[in-house]
Amino acid sequence: MFIPFFREQLNLRFERQIATLQQQEMNISIFEDYRVLLGSIKKTIDNPNKSRDEKLQNICQYLADQIDVFDWVGFYLVDPDADRELILGPYVGEETEHTRIPFGTGICGQAAETNETYMVQDVDQEDNYLACSIHVKAEIVVPVKKNGEFVAELDIDSHTKDSMTDEHRQLLEEICDLVAPLF
Ligand code: SME
Repeated sequence: MFIPFFREQLNLRFERQIATLQQQEMNISIFEDYRVLLGSIKKTIDNPNKSRDEKLQNICQYLADQIDVFDWVGFYLVDPDADRELILGPYVGEETEHTRIPFGTGICGQAAETNETYMVQDVDQEDNYLACSIHVKAEIVVPVKKNGEFVAELDIDSHTKDSMTDEHRQLLEEICDLVAPLF
């Protein structure tokens, strides 16, 4: 009577350990992929023959190509000629009507106001949100800070609900740190 019980307990323990190891292996491979991705982005940023906009455009394209759940990738920049307003910069994806966004409005404007990353897993739950397309379900906006000052942001939309991860956030924050000296 006891032997099957202990066997079952042991099996459960092994299954849990295997699942943990698989998860760790998956994380290691995600981080390896991200290191490669960051290396390519750094090369693009260091390229002396490209303008800032070309570099930002290449980064958008690269992210959209490499990460399945990233369906719209773009930069919004602080408009130096306006009062606390963002202007759309280079992007990849569907055209958007939101070419100018006041600070505080939408996910983008809130990230600009707080100078903090804003990650939304289900845009339908957000009151302060500007819809670009009915297909968008999740969004992440990461500020670009030059010496701590908000200068631009990287905005990413996904057609998949609950698709933004802490690994994405970490990767995108590193990219925004690399991008900051361009401003
Ligand atoms: N959804 C954003 C607007 C920009 S588009 O996603 C390109 C927002 O709520 O600020």
